[in-house]
Amino acid sequence: MLERLGLMPPQASTFASQVDMLYAFLLMVTAFFSVLIAAFVIGFSIKYRRRSDSERTPHLHGSTALEIAWSIIPLGIAMVMFFWGASMFVTLKRPPDDAMQVNVVGKQWMWKIQHLEGRREINELHVPVGRPVKLTLTSEDVIHSFYVPAFRIKQDAVPGRYTTVWFEATKPGRYHLFCAEYCGTKHSGMIGEIVVMDPADYQAWLTAEAPAPAAAGVAAGGESLVAAGRALFEKNGCVTCHQPGSVLGPMLAGIVGTSVTLQDGSTVKVDEDYLRESILTPQAKVVKGFAPVMPTFKGQLNEEQILQLIAYIKSLGATPSASGAADVQGKTGP
Ligand code: CUA
Repeated sequence: MLERLGLMPPQASTFASQVDMLYAFLLMVTAFFSVLIAAFVIGFSIKYRRRSDSERTPHLHGSTALEIAWSIIPLGIAMVMFFWGASMFVTLKRPPDDAMQVNVVGKQWMWKIQHLEGRREINELHVPVGRPVKLTLTSEDVIHSFYVPAFRIKQDAVPGRYTTVWFEATKPGRYHLFCAEYCGTKHSGMIGEIVVMDPADYQAWLTAEAPAPAAAGVAAGGESLVAAGRALFEKNGCVTCHQPGSVLGPMLAGIVGTSVTLQDGSTVKVDEDYLRESILTPQAKVVKGFAPVMPTFKGQLNEEQILQLIAYIKSLGATPSASGAADVQGKTGP
């Protein structure tokens, strides 16, 4: 009803109705107690008003039962809010394993989006209906916030780290995308659209500006993230040290998701943030058994390129000797 009156944005994701139910609950509890307390204030001020100048307040005794009641009942209500909200938060923070991966880079004042398959867009995100989509966000400059009211999701894009959020769209259509964090002069213009399509339309869209065949060259804008990352891996010489048998750098195939031991004996989980840090600040966490010889790539790679490299490293899978590193080595060997 509120949606039809224009008081609420459309409900277009699997979270939307859940978020709205929690919101309605909070609103009703708040309204109920506001009215109740206002009624007591007014009622008591009439009932216990001072009737004459000589009237004195009698000595009052506390009521233990009353005090326990007004402590326990609100505590119970607050706990319901807490567990309800927390369980939704946990769901929102854990994308399903089969979620489609999309990278989002915010900058003043636009959203740059890369699909794994290679399509790129600005201020528009095309997604299929009925499929979970995981967004990995970062920023090139200041904090932005990726806000899609119809999906009831909002996630900050923070420079220097990755954040994630996911959604599953339930209705084809076009939905507003806003930046919800004040980020400078044209913050209010940092807007876009999420285009939710039928899966078949989405497939057609994905291949519409078909990526040039791999043979046509590395520069093609439409190449997949993995291919773009692989080209960067070669061009920047990563392959020289990160190859089987190298004593200079650890093998990268299958490393994502594992834990590595560092020089000081501590361990770190190899995730996107660790890969990013290792590319930009290689000396920060050097893997045990290797010398801190890797140069930094700060200033040489932009955020989108780092995401491409990470996509490539993730694609190397769990078989160290397989395709990835090995055949790249073949191409660029000395
Ligand atoms: Cu970006 Cu506000």
